[in-house]
Amino acid sequence: MFDLEVTGVIPTELDGRLLRNGPNPVGAVDPLSHHWFTGTGMVHGLRLREGRAEWYRNRWVRTPDVTDVLGEPRCRSPFGDDVRLFAANTNVIGHAGRTFAIVEAGTPPVELTDELDTIGPSDFDGTREHPYTAHPKLDPATGELHSMSYFWAWGNQVRYEVVGVDGRVRHRADIATNGPVMVHDVSITERYAVVYDLPVLFNLDAAMGGAALPYRWDSSYQARLGFVPLGGTADQVRWVDIEPCWVFHPANAYDDADGRVVLDVVRYDTMFNVDVTGPNDGPARLERWTVDPITGAFSSVVIDQRSQEFPRVDERVVGRRHRYAYAAEIGDHFDPGAALRHDLQSGTTERRAAGGGRGFGEVVFVPRSPDSAEDDGWLLTVAHDLAGGRADVVILDTSDFTGDPVATVHLPGPVPLGFHGNWVPTVTQ
Ligand SMILES: [Fe+2]
Repeated sequence: MFDLEVTGVIPTELDGRLLRNGPNPVGAVDPLSHHWFTGTGMVHGLRLREGRAEWYRNRWVRTPDVTDVLGEPRCRSPFGDDVRLFAANTNVIGHAGRTFAIVEAGTPPVELTDELDTIGPSDFDGTREHPYTAHPKLDPATGELHSMSYFWAWGNQVRYEVVGVDGRVRHRADIATNGPVMVHDVSITERYAVVYDLPVLFNLDAAMGGAALPYRWDSSYQARLGFVPLGGTADQVRWVDIEPCWVFHPANAYDDADGRVVLDVVRYDTMFNVDVTGPNDGPARLERWTVDPITGAFSSVVIDQRSQEFPRVDERVVGRRHRYAYAAEIGDHFDPGAALRHDLQSGTTERRAAGGGRGFGEVVFVPRSPDSAEDDGWLLTVAHDLAGGRADVVILDTSDFTGDPVATVHLPGPVPLGFHGNWVPTVTQ
């Protein structure tokens, strides 16, 4: 759809694409065996330019589960037919001038055109195997992507990779763990990449029983954090044991002046323990962990008790000390709610409800200019109609977070509750 209806004024500085990914099953699903984490990936894109909402598109990511249902030919895979590809449904990024739909646990990045049509699975120009992650972290100092991937067939290990600005892997380290862990995300600082080695493990019985998501809480597994020097090797990892817990998403991490690492994370007490169809083991809260990788000292404080998810920061401070973090308040079953803006210096949080029977998904920050201060810019998010009606994209000015949106772009239809996305600015040659 072109030239969408807008209430308000879209800032002309916003020149690029707001991309989001999430599950949206293409065919019928069996409600007894389906897990919503594994639903077919659909990417949504909104192109903003010169104050206009130029286009909105949604496209299923053409993994074989989609093309088979739609009767389309399968995309050519550089990994051959022996590698089973499932939904690339969790995040969508721009890197090295290319667009990728990404997911964890075995499926490779799937390259898309700028207009979201599928090109096919990518091996990053022949430099990597298929399992990747939904959450690479871009180091603002280098423009490189740091990732921690896992795959049940690898057994007890995770894989640390660094992808250069040319879109090719330039560094790899296979890091041994004590079990076949699920690792959803990674943190980086100026010195370290952090392994979240936590007690959710691949469960063979669940897999053999046909579970769509065969990962389970294991209360006997020692939770720990691994600190590998940025760009470092497996023998350099320093491990710090912590109390059992689960983290899907850190907001950010940084090194403090005393050599410790500060990690702001959304923490759950357990995951896939009470409810294996979850996440539904209980609420999450935002915590600050301070860890000394040398001495093993660990401490934590609660920043905000509200149940929340999808924490983000200004991408320019990833791995650096941040003052602000943004998140989506959530209810049971990840129902979307209000947007949250945490000021970690003053210890205050602003809460902004979507209103009108709507709930906000993940919030994405866009700076007002490349040199503007942290948090000086706009927050873009999808306002989902909880009754299934048309969704909006809402643009909030951080200087008036609880006020009226700067602009609301009215999309032509609903957007299913999704996972993650990013603002991909137009690159002028
Ligand atoms: Fe995620």
